[in-house]
Amino acid sequence: MGELPEIHKGLDGVYVSESTICKVDGTAGRLYYRGYPIDDIAKNSNYEEAAYLLLNGKLPNGAELEDFSSKLKAERELPDKIINIITESAGKSDPMDILRTAVSYLSIYDNDTKTQTKEANLKKAIKLIAKTSSIVATIGAAMEGRSYTKPDSSLGHSENFIYMLKGKKPTPDEVKPVEMMFILQAEHSTNASTFATLVAGSTLADLYSAVTAGISALKGPLHGGADEEALRMMEAIGDPSNTEAYINDALAGKKKIMGFGHRVYKAYDPRAKIIKGYLLTLQQNPSAEVKRLTEIALRGEKLMIDKLGQTHGIWPNVDFFAGPVYVSAGIKVDLFTPLFAASRMAGWCAHMIEYWEDNKLIRPLELYKGEIDKKYVPINDR
Ligand code: SDX
Repeated sequence: MGELPEIHKGLDGVYVSESTICKVDGTAGRLYYRGYPIDDIAKNSNYEEAAYLLLNGKLPNGAELEDFSSKLKAERELPDKIINIITESAGKSDPMDILRTAVSYLSIYDNDTKTQTKEANLKKAIKLIAKTSSIVATIGAAMEGRSYTKPDSSLGHSENFIYMLKGKKPTPDEVKPVEMMFILQAEHSTNASTFATLVAGSTLADLYSAVTAGISALKGPLHGGADEEALRMMEAIGDPSNTEAYINDALAGKKKIMGFGHRVYKAYDPRAKIIKGYLLTLQQNPSAEVKRLTEIALRGEKLMIDKLGQTHGIWPNVDFFAGPVYVSAGIKVDLFTPLFAASRMAGWCAHMIEYWEDNKLIRPLELYKGEIDKKYVPINDR
């Protein structure tokens, strides 16, 4: 018998492509968008600039950013049919299911779906980035019984998202955390949802089909869904003094603590550091709810790092501190993962467009462990 192939379960440690979009340095706990440290982008950019950078490979000058922002603004409106799908399903289906369906449905309104030039795909990316945010905002509004708010072209991307979600102009305190989360979640190399996007797109299916696969993959609690689960855990803990007992019990029961651990980072996720830093700035004047959640989060962080940080390389990831920050901006838990998708749309599109420049069908192998040459038995003889 020949030598058995090595199996890389979960593609752990396997490189599948070359890219110039994003570097995740898992040992040093550093992250770069197109070579720029994430701290600099988070501090100085808005989401539009980060999305432009990811899609085009360079920071825009003033005129380029203006042009890109106005193209996004021009694509914010949603077709009536999509608004109806959202309002009919809100409250009955998981928001990520509604989002997946609505984004998939967008392809019907694009006459250029099948044109596979880079130029056409960049146009589709702008549509997808703009409209996915509008879809998520409209899902959130519908879940709270509000009807569709038309986008406002005087507002930036994040501001308009909150405006469409809440039906009123946001305060700077609402915009700041949402803008930060939009930037920090925009891209993260070949994570599960980006890889799902690439798998679908590598068959030369169109961009809408590819990102719909990405949304499906993001939904799960081992990936994008972890932000919701982390907040739900904090809610279940209730009083901060219960934190240690709750987490110790969960670990004793071999449960994973959501918002901790990462396939690539064996150090503190730099995004989590930024999010935590923002959360701490809120402590000068927090609401009782944010104060309680922050206390739980900080106690949980300390316990997990003491137990599993240095020894097992399990540190907070992007999803752990996101919940209390979203709560501070009045964003409901059901909307955390859809918002992640709206932000990640830039990264999915950037990766897909890059991959298509030198496309290769993604088709790995599996090691067959069943029997062969079995004798077929007619149905009446079984
Ligand atoms: C995201 O990849 C990306 O880029 C994703 C992302 C992005 O921006 O796109 O960064 C976003 O998805 C962040 C991760 C969100 N998921 C969670 O927070 C869920 C909780 N974390 C885990 O389940 C886990 O850490 C994963 C899924 C994120 C990574 O897991 P791996 O690499 O498959 O490792 P594993 O599950 O096999 O765990 C290895 C060991 C195990 O212990 P042993 O069996 O070896 O003794 O570490 C332990 C695990 O039990 N472990 C944890 C843990 N995570 C890992 N133990 C307790 N709590 C945890 N969170």
